[in-house]
Amino acid sequence: MSDQSSVLADVRRGMIPAHLYNDRELFELERERVFGRAWVFVGHESEIPNSGDYVVRRVLEDSFIVTRDEQGVVRAHFNMCLHRGMQVCRAEMGNASHFRCPYHGWSYRNDGRIVGLPFHKDAYGGEAGFKRKGQRLLPAPSLGIYNGLIFVSMDPDAPPLEDYLGDFRFYLDYYTKQSSSGIELRGPQRWRVKANWKIGAENFAGDMYHTPQTHTSVVEIGLFREPKAEKRKDGCTYWAGNGGGTTYKLPSGDLDERLRYVGYPQEMVDRMKETLSQDQLRVIGEDGFMISAASIYPNMSFVHNWPKVADNTDQVLPFISIRQWQPISEDETEVLSWFAVDAEAPEEFKALSYKAYLMCFGSTGMFEQDDVENWVSLTNTAAGSMARRLLLNSRMGLLEDGTEVVPALTPDEFHGPGVAHTGYGEYNQRELLNRWADDLEQPVKAAVTMEVGYAEQVSSAQENSGPLRPVDDVAERAVEVAAPTGEQTGAGE
Ligand code: FES
Ligand SMILES: [Fe+2]
Repeated sequence: MSDQSSVLADVRRGMIPAHLYNDRELFELERERVFGRAWVFVGHESEIPNSGDYVVRRVLEDSFIVTRDEQGVVRAHFNMCLHRGMQVCRAEMGNASHFRCPYHGWSYRNDGRIVGLPFHKDAYGGEAGFKRKGQRLLPAPSLGIYNGLIFVSMDPDAPPLEDYLGDFRFYLDYYTKQSSSGIELRGPQRWRVKANWKIGAENFAGDMYHTPQTHTSVVEIGLFREPKAEKRKDGCTYWAGNGGGTTYKLPSGDLDERLRYVGYPQEMVDRMKETLSQDQLRVIGEDGFMISAASIYPNMSFVHNWPKVADNTDQVLPFISIRQWQPISEDETEVLSWFAVDAEAPEEFKALSYKAYLMCFGSTGMFEQDDVENWVSLTNTAAGSMARRLLLNSRMGLLEDGTEVVPALTPDEFHGPGVAHTGYGEYNQRELLNRWADDLEQPVKAAVTMEVGYAEQVSSAQENSGPLRPVDDVAERAVEVAAPTGEQTGAGE
């Protein structure tokens, strides 16, 4: 492996060793140090609205049943049978009060507790040999929810999700809180591309520079009202907390006019005015910026755009997509792409917004096709020996001495948190890779192993646990960890 510390030092000065987009050893480090602790998106509450609803999602190879139990609590169970390790749930989504393992028939309630163990007495001598009571599928080490977005972390001591998102929450609300009812999702469409996962995350975080070139044809066929993709430099990129994104500059007008300009009907505009904060509204109404693509470190992205949805008209309509770059290996990524829409939007808006999404993103999307062609080609080229001799310049927006080509927007010019710049720049790509470098430098603590069948794992307080509090899951995980000494760790903390 190339010297890791020199790779990270180069990244920190904005020079990117080209091989990091296709490097097996770096990928093994990412597995441990990025995906071993980051908060990773696994689904949205609207995908599991009713008790028993579930979706099966992964964090790398770890499969989780993300479900709402009979008490309405959202849980993420490691999808591995406590007996001999078979995958308990083989469907991708559905509704079930119980999950029965296909191998020998152990069954679990949707809160994870074991309920059926065939021939318990004959096989184990009953409770004396295997304590069935209190055993449950392993919960994800940490689980958190923000605006209905469900995340898990492999780190039992992960910082609270809200802290992790930090000031990026300000921007997250534009996509997920256009009314008090939040969003509903359709999908995901899933497909694999032979590209490294970091490229999509970087592209959505801040690459306004590629639009005029990569997506020329989308502009030429007249899908957008603005004739020139170069207009993108008038927008700004921002970085805040653990994420960042891009915006478009809107024509002059007040808040209502600007929201209607991108195609929101007045009733949705009125709801946004009730739901978003004054500063969130100021970014649009006073500063004139409309959020577009964004990424949360490490591998979740968003997009918001407003193409024309019918021929021979200038009428545009906005759509939102949530996407995830799920790594398969250093040179392959599973893309998950959801359509998201405000739950209170009129039905006609939802239908047209879905159409707008399908034209641009998802497996039929024109942007998607354009983007992926680049990413696959880049990944392929990054595998060879020559890529190990090349440091890509990722310093766009900076002079050689570090001065910014265009100074950052002042708080009067941009009312959002974090740092924002107009003009072309690779500020956000650098932020994302610096964050990546920070993680790669830090080993993760060894995981605690959990024994099955001996310790009484669940206290009576846990049996009676109330409705959803993400922190409950953290406490519960702590209780369930039977330390090698037999003592229980952190109960009730
Ligand atoms: S592996 Fe699941 S019941 Fe045996
Ligand atoms: Fe693109």
